[in-house]
Amino acid sequence: MKSKKILVTGGAGYIGAHTVVELFASGYSPVIIDNFSKSDRTLLDGIEKITGKALTFYEGDCTDRQFLNGVFEKEGKLEGVMHFAAYKSVGESVEFPIMYYQNNINSLLALVEVMKEHQVNNLIFSSSCTVYGEPDSIPVDEYAPFKKAESPYGATKQMCEQILEDAVRADIDLKVISLRYFNPIGAHPSAMLGELPIDKPNNLVPYITQTAASIREKLVIFGGDYDTPDGTCIRDFIHIVDLAQAHVKAIDKLLGEGISDGYQYYNLGTGQGISVLQLVKEFIEVTGVKLNYEIGPRRAGDVVKTYANPTKAKNELNWSAQYTSRDALRDAWAWEKRLRRLNT
Ligand code: UD1
Repeated sequence: MKSKKILVTGGAGYIGAHTVVELFASGYSPVIIDNFSKSDRTLLDGIEKITGKALTFYEGDCTDRQFLNGVFEKEGKLEGVMHFAAYKSVGESVEFPIMYYQNNINSLLALVEVMKEHQVNNLIFSSSCTVYGEPDSIPVDEYAPFKKAESPYGATKQMCEQILEDAVRADIDLKVISLRYFNPIGAHPSAMLGELPIDKPNNLVPYITQTAASIREKLVIFGGDYDTPDGTCIRDFIHIVDLAQAHVKAIDKLLGEGISDGYQYYNLGTGQGISVLQLVKEFIEVTGVKLNYEIGPRRAGDVVKTYANPTKAKNELNWSAQYTSRDALRDAWAWEKRLRRLNT
């Protein structure tokens, strides 16, 4: 039997690339789109090394309907789409809000329109726990209300979910799952694939590993005076491979038994809250590497405490996180070392 083709937008990015590996492992045929605006070819090489497969790849922009149409025409029957292609830097979105709305909203609109023209009806959307803002209570389940977004980036995720919910309501054939990620970290255990920010990292773990690799002078922990046990923020750090596998479970469900109401959403987290300082200490313990860090001022717009209640994903997708944060830190460091050719 021919394996099912899944279009993966943003497939050269951190989450997209790891998901492509897991799609291959589960017998799907991923078709990748990326415009390399926030990524480069390194991760595509990594996918090929891990899977031993030749990639089907198109370079282009998801806001470009003509380009998308061309891909759908060329590929023929696509069973579903996973839409990762989006900008994701909170700080950058505050500086360039129009760019964020333009890219993140228009790409989704173009994609859904082109999907409809080609009768492709199954979509997995990359959402984020940012939709909840600062939650009233933790762990956060899927029924927590959307608070006013802390950033234009967060607003784009809320708007995209709203667009999809409305689109599903108006179209009986369209089926969508939004996956709300907590904090994905780590790398593929082979060290062939990992996070590769093209500029100075904004996220915590690439900043840690680049500091450990002496690319950055020191890690600043943003805020040590929050109302938490050690004064630093609390997050739910989830291994990237666990996150990628959840996408396969989600597409299996869409194409298999299906979902109720045409639109579903799931938190993807471990269910464990870990503080930023705890994570830094774990990194030092797990790797034995010295890390230059200090506690600095708070970063504007940071949520203080959030972690997931992942029960809905467990019950309905039969998915739960298998790796620990220590596994993720060990793998992130192995990836960084391989990338920089370090022998530490
Ligand atoms: C945020 C969003 C998340 C989004 C992600 C995309 C929330 C709750 N989360 O994650 O949905 O997908 O951005 O980038 O809005 N930190 C430091 N020093 C650093 C870097 C980070 O102390 O150099 C701290 C931050 O203050 C934060 C934690 O580490 O407390 C995690 O930060 P980061 O990795 O940037 O992710 P979030 O901001 O949690």
